[in-house]
Amino acid sequence: MQRPRIIVNFAITVDGKVSTSALTPARFTSSNDKHRLLEIRSLGDALLVGRNTVQIDNMSMGLPDEDLRTARVQRGQTEYPLRVVVSNSGNLSTDLNIFNHRFSPIVIYSTTSMPEAVKAALQTRATLHLADADRLSLPEVLSDLYRTHRVHTLVCEGGPSLAKGLAEIDAIDELFLTIAPLLFGGAGAPGILGNLGKFLPSSRIYRLNSMNVESTECYLHYVADRP
Ligand SMILES: NC(=O)c1ccc[n+]([C@@H]2O[C@H](COP(=O)([O-])OP(=O)(O)OC[C@H]3O[C@@H](n4cnc5c(N)ncnc54)[C@H](OP(=O)(O)O)[C@@H]3O)[C@@H](O)[C@H]2O)c1
Repeated sequence: MQRPRIIVNFAITVDGKVSTSALTPARFTSSNDKHRLLEIRSLGDALLVGRNTVQIDNMSMGLPDEDLRTARVQRGQTEYPLRVVVSNSGNLSTDLNIFNHRFSPIVIYSTTSMPEAVKAALQTRATLHLADADRLSLPEVLSDLYRTHRVHTLVCEGGPSLAKGLAEIDAIDELFLTIAPLLFGGAGAPGILGNLGKFLPSSRIYRLNSMNVESTECYLHYVADRP
């Protein structure tokens, strides 16, 4: 399967949580990390998130840094990454921040379960790919992004359910992690691959490419170590 190179970025607490048990918005890192997130985001032809992340964090999925946008254009990329959301249910709120900004196209992969009212509200604001199935096939989504939307580098900012799906098909090629100096606890608070379900089909192995400590946080970059 031809698919984009996939870079995943998460912030975690020292006890490995990406959010609290109540799935509160992920706003627990420093301004330095928030800029690092934009730097990583700017690498992608597209930015991918799951429905809960775009809703809970109410992201516009933009790139509010002119220097990063200029660098993209100089590299031959579009000024802003394409914005991509996946949702089996299609149950998206149509008043989210993402739909109020038109700086780059939005592509939504969902199913024919998407409610008619959502479909009607979004079809002028996004490209809708609606699979005639209960669940999306991530390999098909990735292949379509590569072939139809010419996405060769895809940055995924979660959430954990989506990241788990990518790990299941061994499609996480690079992983950026920020370790923030906090403990959340909470059995229900997710890690980067969530907190429920089975083991992965096999362990995914990574090579530590870099580790930097700045102020109170640790920044890690891993690259998949495949034969
Ligand atoms: N710390 C961090 O760096 C970070 C980053 C991102 C998110 N978060 C936090 O994570 C929490 C949300 O976790 P989450 O796991 O629920 O987030 P999520 O993965 O963004 O959302 C899950 C939903 O996305 C859709 N989805 C995910 N994978 C899919 C697939 N393979 N095919 C089709 N649809 C798919 C499904 O939507 P439907 O239900 O509509 O089918 C699923 O219920 C929030 O608290 C957020 O703040 C933290």
